[in-house]
Amino acid sequence: MRKKVVIANWKMNYDFHETTSFIRNFLKIVFERKINHDNKEIILSPSFPFLHISNQILQGTTLNIAAQNIHQSDKGSYTGEVSAFMLKSLGIRKVILGHSERRKFFFEKNDLLSKKIKMALKYSLDIIFCVGESSLERSKNKQFEVIKSQLKETVFHCSSDEMKYFYIAYEPIWAIGTGKTATIEQAQTMHEFIRSLFFNKYGQSISDEISILYGGSINELNAKDLFNQKDIDGGLIGRSSLEMEKFLKIVQS
Ligand code: PGA
Repeated sequence: MRKKVVIANWKMNYDFHETTSFIRNFLKIVFERKINHDNKEIILSPSFPFLHISNQILQGTTLNIAAQNIHQSDKGSYTGEVSAFMLKSLGIRKVILGHSERRKFFFEKNDLLSKKIKMALKYSLDIIFCVGESSLERSKNKQFEVIKSQLKETVFHCSSDEMKYFYIAYEPIWAIGTGKTATIEQAQTMHEFIRSLFFNKYGQSISDEISILYGGSINELNAKDLFNQKDIDGGLIGRSSLEMEKFLKIVQS
């Protein structure tokens, strides 16, 4: 059975107090309201300085933490960078790679992302790997080609055995932070296509097992319809994960 997954990508938003109080309140509410989360994986992604405390607060719960980035080396003279080697020493087990904001603002291309994937795997980190097309690419009907090459030049360099470390997040760039969600049809069609690429490359069981999440302006109103699609296994949530009640509704969807 494929995992259902909800990820809160807090990006560069919350400070120490906001991060820790969100997590503590979230746990309290889930407990008090008896929100059933047995059959799903909930992952929170705070900024680097708060990973350790967040992980400590979540000890003994089923919730997980993901970092938002790593450097492609494990050690060295790279002022200001953080590596998989360091995350591992904190007990962090997951990382988001290939987010379109990293591709756009930090010029991360597929060859660099491939190196980051290799480094994450060296330290056995699970990878939430993001792919997505721009609005221009979609207007030219190039979305399938773009997603295929993003996967071919990165994730598809990995072996079948390494696939257990991956989640894929389809995040059309034009839907991120814009309030403009992909339609149910656009999202399901792309997810089915992505699954077929995994089928062609790795076969039936891996394509059946891999969790493919949607991201891009998910909110408490559209989450349920999206998550009901047969190839959509959950979501990577930005803006709506910053508001507790909205995020709780998304989790319950
Ligand atoms: P959004 O962000 O939900 O604010 O569109 C999603 C993301 O960037 O992962």
